[in-house]
Amino acid sequence: LRDGPLRGKRILVTSGPTHEPIDPVRYIANRSSGAQGTAIAEALSALGAEVVFVTGPADTPRPISAEVVEVETARQMAAAVDAALPCDAAVFCAAVADWHVVGAGSSKIKKDGTGAPPGFELAENPDILATVSRGDKRPRLVVGFAAETDDVIAHATAKRKRKGCDWIVANDVSPATGIMGGTQNAAILITAEGADPWLRMSKAETAATLAARMAEALT
Ligand code: C5P
Repeated sequence: LRDGPLRGKRILVTSGPTHEPIDPVRYIANRSSGAQGTAIAEALSALGAEVVFVTGPADTPRPISAEVVEVETARQMAAAVDAALPCDAAVFCAAVADWHVVGAGSSKIKKDGTGAPPGFELAENPDILATVSRGDKRPRLVVGFAAETDDVIAHATAKRKRKGCDWIVANDVSPATGIMGGTQNAAILITAEGADPWLRMSKAETAATLAARMAEALT
């Protein structure tokens, strides 16, 4: 563990997508490279934090400095997050699938020859951020993310209240920004005091900016 302002602080980071199986070979997922989550985990440990990194199946390398917990589904992520608590702070970067397929089985769904696609029923996944924010093991500082395509500040401010977290890092992911899948980010930090727009910068710099703000808040 490195020395720094977050030394002695245990911080949870969720990252990546979740995969929700339809059958053994198919799944539902959100797009997420996991790059921002990995960068945040690295930035927090660079300031001395002990990081628990709960990740879905992302393509990006895992942070070398963190304790890594690999999961596949949202329900597994919720259980891993609960097991990682208590923590001093938590950052919810994961792009969690909103639904899972009810009764996803162990045999592959076959085309039935009629051209009719199979039907399946979806059920809502747990909202991990909202559950932790309102739970009895709530970390002192809870940070959520919001990917928005329009009215970014208004939507992210409403999301902060709805989820019960302390901060929201809001991103404008409308296609023109090139942020989704890109190397840069343009974030706005939403707190109880209002909206603080950050400059357009790399995902590593975004992570360092957030980690520094968290260190200020936690020390
Ligand atoms: O509602 P929405 O998906 O836009 O919220 C995004 C924030 O909530 C992110 O911080 C994400 O990690 C978190 N989230 C979660 N569990 C879910 C859905 C979203 O933790 N099931």
